[in-house]
Amino acid sequence: MKIVSVLFLYTLAVINNAWCSGIPQIKLNDGREIPGFGLGTWLGIAKGGQGLEPVKDDSVQKAVEWAIDAGYRHIDTARIYETEQQIGEAIKKKIAEGTVKREELFITTKLWNDAHARDEVVPALRQSLKELNLDYVDLYLIHWPLAHFTNLTFEIIDYLDTWEGMVEAQQLGLTKSIGVSNFNKDQLERLISNSKVKPAALQIEVNLNLQQSVLRDYCKEHNIAVTGYTPFGSLFPSKAAPNAPPPRVDDPALVKIAKKYNKSVPQIALRYLVDLGVIPIPKSTTKSRLEQNIDVFDFELTQPEKDLMKSYDRGYRSVEPKMWIQHPEYPFEKN
Ligand SMILES: NC(=O)c1ccc[n+]([C@@H]2O[C@H](COP(=O)([O-])OP(=O)(O)OC[C@H]3O[C@@H](n4cnc5c(N)ncnc54)[C@H](OP(=O)(O)O)[C@@H]3O)[C@@H](O)[C@H]2O)c1
Repeated sequence: MKIVSVLFLYTLAVINNAWCSGIPQIKLNDGREIPGFGLGTWLGIAKGGQGLEPVKDDSVQKAVEWAIDAGYRHIDTARIYETEQQIGEAIKKKIAEGTVKREELFITTKLWNDAHARDEVVPALRQSLKELNLDYVDLYLIHWPLAHFTNLTFEIIDYLDTWEGMVEAQQLGLTKSIGVSNFNKDQLERLISNSKVKPAALQIEVNLNLQQSVLRDYCKEHNIAVTGYTPFGSLFPSKAAPNAPPPRVDDPALVKIAKKYNKSVPQIALRYLVDLGVIPIPKSTTKSRLEQNIDVFDFELTQPEKDLMKSYDRGYRSVEPKMWIQHPEYPFEKN
């Protein structure tokens, strides 16, 4: 009886760890490491397109708990998502249960656009830490290179000044690493040539329709890790804009590849991003899907399969905040 229970517990432990095994740890340019796969926690745009989807229930807390059980060690959030508090609750619970230690987790949050003044950065991070119920985060990112007031009117603050606040936050130990998000190549170059501390990571949209080879090559050259947001792009018809290019999740060529590996199309799309050297951070608040998403490290795509997936690149953005298009630091194409 005793042997059977020990065997049962052992099997459970193996299953529990199976999902996390094989996730690469990526070395950052500041000497730390980031897990090569993470969980996104933005609930998206509200139906009807007005504002963000409100955080109404404890779905994010549950998702983070399931994710930690499934082997996720990297969680992505931001001040603007309003999910920091639930992530904090999930982390507290999982640490108290003994599932993980704080130092095994990698938590990223982001500075919102209304706190870009140099002296606002540290207080903004302290507020995030309070919500997260943490002493430090692992990575703090400038969410966008542009500043605006709370009422959304544009504010002109040089992101080089904001970066000085980020460096101070790191020196104070409130964040282990610092980086940026949604910066274009020119903005990144200007930041690097004018600062003593190089960003450790760049978070940008990367998916089959937007493969970002220019920025990825630049980051590789400068040893900056690339985190890929909205990794599914327009794969799901319910999320795709009417003008979004293919493929969709039922694309016959992708279905054929997925079947070959006994995987789903979302899984092979994520695996392709891993092969590009990108750290995908898919969001799901559905237990079975978040477990499925991280289970992409036990097969390898062939070169012809990767070539096919490369052919879907159209430079097409799913996330395009046109309301900021007139801002001088709007980072994307203006046409
Ligand atoms: N830095 C930035 O400016 C920025 C911008 C956008 C996003 N992000 C970050 O990146 C994360 C991911 O991006 P995202 O949330 O925009 O998009 P995403 O991860 O590409 O897609 C999320 C959507 O896909 C669904 N989904 C997830 N796994 C699935 C699966 N295996 N099969 C079918 N459907 C699946 C989710 O539904 P369910 O939840 O219902 O399962 C959800 O509707 C965000 O959550 C956020 O953390 C950052």
